[in-house]
Order: sequence, then C-alpha cells, then structure tokens
Amino acid sequence: MTAPTFTPRVFSGIQPSGGLHLGNYLGAIKRFVDMQNDGLSGQPIETIYCMVDLHAITVWQDPATLRRNTRELCAGFIASGIDPEKSVLINQSQVPEHAQLAWIFNCVARMGWMQRMTQWKDKAGKNTQNSSLGLFAYPALMAADILIYHATHVPVGEDQKQHLELTRDIAAKFNNDFGVDFFPMTEPVIEGAATRVMSLRDGTKKMSKSDTSDASRINMTDDADTIAKKIRKAKTDPEPLPETLEGLEGRPEARNLVNIYAALSDISAEAAMAQVGGQQFGQFKPMLADLAVAKLSPISAEMARLMEQPDEIDAILSRGAERAREISAPILRDVYEIVGMVR
Ligand code: TYM
Repeated sequence: MTAPTFTPRVFSGIQPSGGLHLGNYLGAIKRFVDMQNDGLSGQPIETIYCMVDLHAITVWQDPATLRRNTRELCAGFIASGIDPEKSVLINQSQVPEHAQLAWIFNCVARMGWMQRMTQWKDKAGKNTQNSSLGLFAYPALMAADILIYHATHVPVGEDQKQHLELTRDIAAKFNNDFGVDFFPMTEPVIEGAATRVMSLRDGTKKMSKSDTSDASRINMTDDADTIAKKIRKAKTDPEPLPETLEGLEGRPEARNLVNIYAALSDISAEAAMAQVGGQQFGQFKPMLADLAVAKLSPISAEMARLMEQPDEIDAILSRGAERAREISAPILRDVYEIVGMVR
C-alpha cells in the first residue's frame, strides 16, 4: 500500500494563560505570520492558529481572567499580523473535536511516555499527587489539536520539541494498532534566530511568564518606556560583542541579545553579527531598544484598541470555529469508524 499524501497544513497553539511575552512572539507568533504570508517553500499553505483554553485549565485559572486572556491572546495574534480572513483563528473549546480525539489518544498513549515529558516534570514538580489529571494528559490533547486537522507542519519554540515527538509517536501507534495510514507524521518547524529566547536577567534560563522578576521578560503589553528600560538594564558581561558568532560561545546573555536583534530584524544571527559585531553594549543596547520599541509598541497599541471591541473578537472566534469544524468533523467521523464505534 502506498502511503497517502496529506495536504500541507499548518497548526499551532498558545495557552491563553496571560502574560504573552517576547519569547512567544519571536518563537511562535511572528513565525505564524510568516507562514500565513509566505507559505511553505513558496507554496501557499492553509494555517490554523488556536488559543488552547482547555490546556490552560490544566492548572487553575480564574474564569473571568481566562475569558479576558483568551480575548487578549486573540487580539495579540491579530495585532501581530494574523489575518482572520487568511488564517483560521479559533479557541480550542469551541471546536469539540479536539477534546473528543484527545480521549481516543488517552487510550493510545502509554503512561510511561507521559511520565518522560520534561514539561510535566517541571510543571508538576514534587507535587505530582496533587496535580490535575489533565496536566498529565496534556500532551495527548496537544497531539489531538494537531492531528484533528491532519496538520503536517507545526511552528513552535524549542521547548515544545518533545511534545511534537510524542505527537508522532501517538500517530504512529494509532496507525499501527488499527492497520491504517490515517494520521500524518507531523513536522515540527523550529527555525529562526529566536527558537529559545532567554531571560534578560539570566541568559541560562528561558524567558517565561512564570519568572517572578518582571524585568526578566518583555511583555507584549509593555509600553515603549518599559521596553527600553528593560533592555538597557538587561544583564550582560563587560566585554564588547565579538566579531563573529563563534565568539558568543559561553556568553549566554550577549548571545540572547544578538538573537533577539536578529529575529526582530528578520535576519540570521550571522547577518546580525556582521552588523553589530565589535560594538560595546553602550552602543548596541540603545540600538536594540529602539528596534524593539519600533517593532513591538505598534502591536501593544493595536492589542489595546482591539480589546475595546470584545464582540468583534468573539465573532472572529465563532466564525473560525465554524471553518475549523468543516475540517475536524469529517476526520473525527473517520476516527470513530476506524476505532469501531457504532454511528
Ligand atoms: P505555550 O503557550 O507555553 O507557548 C506558546 C509558544 O511560544 C513558544 N515559546 C517560546 N519560544 C521561544 N522562546 C521562549 N522563551 C518561549 N516561550 C514560549 C512555545 O514554544 C510555543 O510555541 N503546549 C503549547 C501549546 C499548544 C500547542 C498545541 C502548540 C497546545 N496545543 C498544538 C502547538 C501545537 C504551549 O504550552 O505553548
């Protein structure tokens, strides 16, 4: 039997748990916009982007805050350049097929696979007995998000790599268990200069919304002054920037700022070094701050404007859900058929 060819399709998601930051923007959202506009190897590609509210509630969320954060994330997507006419924009809970396929995958995935997930270990910490069952099953829902659309490409930051490997394992086990070639082997797309943006206070730690220091990250809602101040105060070492990329070895803070500069300028880290290599931080940081303000403050201003029109956001999301279900409902029907459910 020849393997089926799957129509190229992009899917990715972000948790609406508040605190969208520069890492999410450069590692994910900006790449989503690029894939929407440029396609894949020059070919146009269908793009579906999701606010994963069902994932967010694997840890406690205040209901009113979750609702606000979901709308704010949608505003962030649109303000960054995602066009709801070109891409399908959804919140996960409005497309019930995600959760329905996740149940099937809970029965395909093995406990041992889940126990190996570093994100589970990090998030549950020592308190596994008191973590939600949903937090443990999180990666099976993520696999369902992707595979309910037969998505072939998933742009993400580096921290999601292990979850995407698990998605392939689940797809392969399902195909094998039922003797079908039904789910594609999804390709992670982890590319660009900023697949892992680091904390501005410690270049060995990932930039994250859960860091207790607000100075460690640039929030997408920060105003121009705050952005500039955080970059001016970012930790560095006393040496000027080296002339070449190799010279950044062992200098995580310098490397992180160069990566941010490259990603914001839409150039490679090598090309960035050709521009800024040899500079003192006293010269480089103000330039980086100006660049960050120029790129990010129009986004935060547009987010604030969109947030004044929640009805419009809700209408975009319900239209997105309708379009998404045109793809997901027939795939779920086929899954139930394969698994042997009487319909
Ligand atoms: P989440 O919400 O933690 O992060 C959203 C996206 O931002 C990327 N990211 C970063 N990239 C670079 N540097 C950083 N410091 C940084 N921090 C976060 C993440 O890699 C991610 O791409 N499990 C996912 C959400 C999800 C999903 C999916 C993703 C649910 N279903 C299906 C893809 C496909 C998550 O928690 O991402």
